[in-house]
Amino acid sequence: MLRLGFVGTGTLAAAVIDGLQETQGTRCRILVSPRSEAVSRALAERHPNVERAASNAEVVEGADVVFLGVRPPQLEEGTAGLPFRAGQTVVSFLAGVPHALVAEKVAPAVAVRVNPLPPIRLRKGPVVMYPDNPVVAELFGGLGDLIVASKESDLANIAIASALMSSHFALQNRMIGWLVSRDMAGDSAAAYVRSMFAGLAAIGLDALAKGETVDPAHHETPGGLNWRGRQFLTGEGWFDDVERALDAIEAHSLRLKSGG
Ligand SMILES: NC(=O)c1ccc[n+]([C@@H]2O[C@H](COP(=O)([O-])OP(=O)(O)OC[C@H]3O[C@@H](n4cnc5c(N)ncnc54)[C@H](OP(=O)(O)O)[C@@H]3O)[C@@H](O)[C@H]2O)c1
Repeated sequence: MLRLGFVGTGTLAAAVIDGLQETQGTRCRILVSPRSEAVSRALAERHPNVERAASNAEVVEGADVVFLGVRPPQLEEGTAGLPFRAGQTVVSFLAGVPHALVAEKVAPAVAVRVNPLPPIRLRKGPVVMYPDNPVVAELFGGLGDLIVASKESDLANIAIASALMSSHFALQNRMIGWLVSRDMAGDSAAAYVRSMFAGLAAIGLDALAKGETVDPAHHETPGGLNWRGRQFLTGEGWFDDVERALDAIEAHSLRLKSGG
């Protein structure tokens, strides 16, 4: 029986634990740190294999794989004096914290950075890992699409690209609102738009699995409605704005890192 431990039992840890129940539930026992009392108690009530530990030290002592789910500024306080040991694997969820710093805090355990996104709760979406680690790859198998980053800077860049997630929902909501303004029932409009994007996402992943790219021109008829839509948005600079937004988010993030 694999023993998993969570130091920092917040939003992401809860989503991962819920997801793991589906894929590893019968194969693992999970110890969670007592902080964030409501979340840790709810997890222990919801899942028979989840237990609330008395302290962070108890979590680390009792786990083969430890997950760090505290926020970046809480790394020092959350790991200080904990009995990490050789042969143990520590999965860090901490965004923007250099790998070398986490590795130093959890030595002699082996540190691995994993970046899941909220859809992991539904066992969907990308899970980025750095560096490659077979124990962690097996744990996250079935919890989404596992992507092994070849270098640490990829993690910083995917964080920037992921900053358009909420804009994706804003786009969907505008489309739904437009349909409603044309007198379509709200629930039907939402079902249509959200299902359409889910179907398109499935086409993209299918193409990826076949080693193909997705060419927008293959998803429109010249002179047709989709062609018109893309021509209009291209002419308005909408796709250039997407790149400009990512550049602006990157610049902001670099300013924060340099203390500016
Ligand atoms: N949320 C996401 O989608 C996402 C995606 C990728 C990466 N991440 C990373 O995942 C980490 C967690 O994010 P989150 O959204 O889950 O944050 P969160 O909900 O604030 O969870 C942080 C948890 O850490 C606990 N904590 C703080 N100090 C602690 C300590 N010394 N010992 C034990 N527990 C302590 C907090 O407990 P209290 O409530 O009692 O303070 C809270 O339960 C962050 O580092 C973030 O960068 C998150």
